[in-house]
Amino acid sequence: MTIDILTIFPEMFDSVLNASILGRARQAGLIEIEATDIRPFSASKHKNTDDYPFGGGAGMLMMAQPIADCMKAVCEKRGVPCLSNLEPHESAGVKRIYLSPRGVPLTQKLAQELSQEEHLILLCGHYEGVDQRVLDKYIDLEVSIGDYVLTGGELGAMVIADCVARLIPGVLGSEESPQDESFSDAGLLEYPQYTRPREFEGMTVPEVLLNGDHAKIAAWRREQAILATAQRRPDLLKTAGLTEKEKQALLRDRS
Ligand SMILES: C[S@@+](CC[C@H](N)C(=O)[O-])C[C@H]1O[C@@H](n2cnc3c(N)ncnc32)[C@H](O)[C@@H]1O
Repeated sequence: MTIDILTIFPEMFDSVLNASILGRARQAGLIEIEATDIRPFSASKHKNTDDYPFGGGAGMLMMAQPIADCMKAVCEKRGVPCLSNLEPHESAGVKRIYLSPRGVPLTQKLAQELSQEEHLILLCGHYEGVDQRVLDKYIDLEVSIGDYVLTGGELGAMVIADCVARLIPGVLGSEESPQDESFSDAGLLEYPQYTRPREFEGMTVPEVLLNGDHAKIAAWRREQAILATAQRRPDLLKTAGLTEKEKQALLRDRS
């Protein structure tokens, strides 16, 4: 997979892209991630990328021209179409995303869908946002990383790159599976986990995890995942596909 990030602060990505699992995946050639600076594409003498909004109001807006030219250059370099509103078969394999508080919420399900794409192009806004015309013409999807407002889309782009990259086969080591985690196939939050030592500051590891009985361990983990989800995110239980027996057990635990 290739992820291109369009930003006026490409230096923000240096450490994130080179460290830890993302860094390893890039080195192993499993994923290519590149941040491209929008500013050099500005046609203005001083390489401005923002201007006052028509109609007034606080703050500045990112101008359409530098973004559009940056998008065209990146698409041309990669050999992919750069316009939105193409038929799905015409734009197959590439998704152009604008990070925005107005976007669809980023979920694990969306991350899974995005991980199936061959190519993501992530546009990071700044100031008060981006001229609507560039979004209308070049963007397929707006994505929000939460109901709060950041100063720029860069942190959101890092979040997308990270949660999508770890779903690409081979990126996680075999010991780190994305299957058995919060929001994964079971639709539950993860159960509590423990590592050595067996006793820490007077607290012990649940006995069931020490006896090597894999069926019992799996049953305990499922039960704990259901309890954690009921306590922290009861909204997830509706779609988690609990059995009748599990629903009854939960009712008993809660009463
Ligand atoms: C200060 S914000 C602009 C907010 C915009 N005026 C609004 O009210 O929706 C600047 C940029 O940060 C990014 N951003 C801010 N909050 C975000 C969020 N929750 N998710 C994704 N991107 C966000 C977007 O790229 C946005 O263009």
